[in-house]
Amino acid sequence: MSDNNNIVWHDTNIKREDREALLKQKGAVLWFTGLSGSGKSTVANAVEKKLYEASRATYLLDGDNIRHGLNKGLGFDTKDRIENIRRIAEVSKLFVDAGIITLTAFISPFIKERNDVRGLLGDRFIEIFVDCSLEACEGRDPKGLYQKARAGEIKNFTGIDSPYEKPVSPEIIVQTDIKSVDECANQILQYLNTNGFI
Ligand code: PPS
Repeated sequence: MSDNNNIVWHDTNIKREDREALLKQKGAVLWFTGLSGSGKSTVANAVEKKLYEASRATYLLDGDNIRHGLNKGLGFDTKDRIENIRRIAEVSKLFVDAGIITLTAFISPFIKERNDVRGLLGDRFIEIFVDCSLEACEGRDPKGLYQKARAGEIKNFTGIDSPYEKPVSPEIIVQTDIKSVDECANQILQYLNTNGFI
């Protein structure tokens, strides 16, 4: 464990408000949470495209991609999932401070860790529950992972032998087994508009 006693926080001349004024938007995190195969990445990508086309500054942090770099080496037991989300939360905080509309697509299965992110980001945290039944996700099985999990070839698979705790009061719920990707994306854009983020 390193000793942080001699590290002092420095204030910067340029603040988040200054960067937001330049970008003409409010930094925020659109935190997509849901089962594997629920459509987190697909809907997040669709939202980012719409925001980009509306000249908004965005960045998408995606589970599979981040696990290739920043979080390389982390697995899927409870301890590693908690560390995965802790790091993403800190990175998201930096992006929000930069004034960017940040989209994160991680299963983030535990209520406690998602609430910790909410605590870190305050009213800039927008929790989006990507609601899709386990049956539908398993039916889609885009990467063949459910099949492997059922066969016992993958351990600690969310929804099979590792828990997913649904959000209690998310800002947005998108029902990807009922609505189209475009409808879900529009619902999120509408929220950002109504609440003055864009
Ligand atoms: S978590 O729970 O938030 O730390 O997970 P995340 O970083 O989002 O990574 C989820 C993606 O990793 C693949 N994968 C698994 N998911 C769940 N459980 C296990 N055991 C597992 N092993 C690999 C899977 O492709 C997830 O991608 P998505 O996009 O969610 O389907």
